[in-house]
Amino acid sequence: MLRDTPSTVYLKDYQPPEFLIDQVSLQFDLGEEGTRVRSRLELRRNPAAESRSADLRLHGEQLELLSLALDGEPLAPAAYAQDDEGLTIRQVPDRFVLESEVRILPQHNTALEGLYKSGGMFCTQCEAEGFRKITWFLDRPDVMSRFTTTITADKQRYPVLLSNGNPAEAVDLADGRHRITWADPFPKPAYLFALVAGDLRFIEDSHTTPSGRQVALRIYVEPENINKCAHAMASLKHAMRWDEQQYGREYDLDIYMIVAVNDFNMGAMENKGLNIFNSKYVLASPATATDRDFQGIESVIAHEYFHNWTGNRITCRDWFQLSLKEGLTVFRDQEFSADMGSRGVKRIEDVRLLRAHQFAEDAGPMAHPVRPDSYMEINNFYTVTVYEKGAEVVRMQSNLLGPEAYRRGTDLYFERFDGQAVTTDDFVQCMADAGKRDLTQFKRWYSQAGTPELNIRGEYDAVRQTYSLTVEQHCPATPGQPDKAPFLIPLAVGLLDSKGADLALQLEDESTPIRGTRMLELSERRQQFVFEQVPETPVPSLLRGFSAPVKVHFDYSDAQLMFLMAHDSDGFSRWDAAQTLSQRILLQLVADPNSAVPTGFIDAFRQALTDGSTDPALLAEVLTLPSESYLGDQMAEVDVAGIHQAREWLKTLLATELRNELLAVYRANEVPGEYQPDAASIGRRSLRNLALGYLMQLDDETIQQLCVEQYRAGHNMTDVISALSLLADRDTPEAAELLEAFYQQWQGDPLVLDKWFSLQALSKRPDTLQRVQALLKHPAFSIANPNKVRALIGAFCSGNAVRFHAADGSGYRFLGDRVLELDGLNPQVASRMVRLMARWQRYDPARQQQMKAQLERILKTEGVSRDVFEIASKSLE
Ligand code: TRP
Ligand code: ZN
Repeated sequence: MLRDTPSTVYLKDYQPPEFLIDQVSLQFDLGEEGTRVRSRLELRRNPAAESRSADLRLHGEQLELLSLALDGEPLAPAAYAQDDEGLTIRQVPDRFVLESEVRILPQHNTALEGLYKSGGMFCTQCEAEGFRKITWFLDRPDVMSRFTTTITADKQRYPVLLSNGNPAEAVDLADGRHRITWADPFPKPAYLFALVAGDLRFIEDSHTTPSGRQVALRIYVEPENINKCAHAMASLKHAMRWDEQQYGREYDLDIYMIVAVNDFNMGAMENKGLNIFNSKYVLASPATATDRDFQGIESVIAHEYFHNWTGNRITCRDWFQLSLKEGLTVFRDQEFSADMGSRGVKRIEDVRLLRAHQFAEDAGPMAHPVRPDSYMEINNFYTVTVYEKGAEVVRMQSNLLGPEAYRRGTDLYFERFDGQAVTTDDFVQCMADAGKRDLTQFKRWYSQAGTPELNIRGEYDAVRQTYSLTVEQHCPATPGQPDKAPFLIPLAVGLLDSKGADLALQLEDESTPIRGTRMLELSERRQQFVFEQVPETPVPSLLRGFSAPVKVHFDYSDAQLMFLMAHDSDGFSRWDAAQTLSQRILLQLVADPNSAVPTGFIDAFRQALTDGSTDPALLAEVLTLPSESYLGDQMAEVDVAGIHQAREWLKTLLATELRNELLAVYRANEVPGEYQPDAASIGRRSLRNLALGYLMQLDDETIQQLCVEQYRAGHNMTDVISALSLLADRDTPEAAELLEAFYQQWQGDPLVLDKWFSLQALSKRPDTLQRVQALLKHPAFSIANPNKVRALIGAFCSGNAVRFHAADGSGYRFLGDRVLELDGLNPQVASRMVRLMARWQRYDPARQQQMKAQLERILKTEGVSRDVFEIASKSLE
């Protein structure tokens, strides 16, 4: 907790460690009162150090020191000094062994960082700086050590004792306790350490790598969940095969373990050989999990598995390099999911997420580069910028190099840096070397924050048969970065002829035309590209596949957007044209509720619904209107109520005009037979539920009944939750009855109850805040469980704009109260919640005042965490 203003850490101050730790052995004695941790560190001076202090400084927080010895000699009190953040040992030799014993209190650890208890089990979370809450250490990623871990615990309560690496030895002790030792042969930073102890069951499978290594695969869960692991296991095996085929990477230990825990701050953690997961990303059965859950599990399992090479074998030199592992690993998991399911739809989903959250972050007070240059609390920088924009930055390098050179680049990266802690510059250098090109300018994507904007103009010259595109780039200022240098931007373009086919593209001075998409490279503030032998005025298709994380401005007519929406050969661009058009219409409606909707718009939707040739999954994306919060981002001042009204009104208009077509689509896309989470079935269900969503805008008894029937049929959780969410928007006795029935049916399943909390928090009912307040007191709710907090409080504040931004400020007071309540328990989760007010300047003066008042109140509170302090103070700057 805070005494003074937290200090800022700067990238420019990086220095190599003065000491290295070659070998670590840890002995945990797990108890109900407390846990004793004995550690033996083999330390030596780092030959590459740039400075030489006489003293050794180790990290350590909330540790009760029991004993300390150097080279076997107990240390006198004068030889060391302990403070809140660590331990200084005076006058150490160049090479020595440090032994210590501490007592820690996992049972009281509500921050879920370090060693803590989740239900009846012990588990750890050490990234980024949690290991220092376990024992004294050089808790920084460029100190890589070999770990041996011995765990002693009561055998009945904790029959399963796990740590990283391979199991070495197991003994039963006389007092009902037992002891197991694990040895990890790979040097690793402390943030990848893990320990688990509990009464767990596992499912087992195996995988043989191309080099012939047999790997045991185990997923550990609490006994009641043993039947919900099959999908996670199948996903793991797919991910292992994919990484072998696509990147030539194979697994390197004899065993790969995944453990599911209910109390977890994020999605999952890639600890070497022992991944720890939020149970949300492991457990699934057709009755309890939605299509989205199945997809989430597949991608997070893959993400953590891929970290074994991109993160663990090669790790980050310092936390400013976080995107080295996260951006690259997200890019890898995105491509994996694209290969497993529907590639085009996956791209649309990823771009929607990026635009909704990362573009917003880039435009707000917390904007930071993919490689930040300072932080107060590193946990605050596990952001959509570092993860998702970081993935786009890797994707652009693959776009610029092409697939073969990109693969040579990653091969070179693994060869050059295996076993090391490196930087994003090191990664880019491998790409530059493999692609034989200079990527110096490209590196600005890592150092400059903000979303570049492209203003593009097109001009057709009928006499010379040329079409020229003039492109100007600029990037808005962000905190600390008033001026930006131009980026190197891959811009994928196509030109459509009047029938909607791709024209052959031939740039000046080129001999052979290319039909389809071309990757233009922008490097200057203003550039012109001239296409030759263009027989007619084309419609340009710009930023196909979202080839760069930028905003494009082009003066399309409504008719041109409808044309692209119907004909573009690039699925992403068809969707994007529909989004641009819908957005334009919606923003016009916000400005003037009486403005006319272009008739062609409804016809375009009708045509899309009825042409029968579009993949249902893509069609569902095309027909989804931009979200309220995304629309708000496009306005100079967010008009919360106006946006909600306009969007609801347009949905109702479309439902009224297209009632028959929507009903036909609803009926035609029923998925018969047993539930399968394959891409085709998922696509049909999403289209069908989208149609139902539109139809439920109508005050129509038949449709209500259709929705109730879908709920009662209970074929699968996707259809059940879609129906129940729509019903929960209304204040009817039937809705109340079904919500209660759902609770009764699922009260034993915490993950299903999370959905139940969320759909009530997202309800359009005017009394939703009161209902959320009441649900805080529900016996199934717990403020100490991050999934519950996200399901109820997070869903309300981030997904229910009209209610959260209620004009009376009630939503903001609610959030302020929750942040302060949470901060004493779990600063990481509290800090994610306080972010939801960071963009207060985007609203009208009255709302600004109310949000600001909450931020100021939070900041003034004594003992506020560093996590929350950083976000609240930077938001007010
Ligand atoms: N490295 C993890 C991932 O991306 C995420 C992570 C970072 C995390 N810090 C955490 C998970 C804290 C849980 C808690 O896969
Ligand atoms: Zn990750």
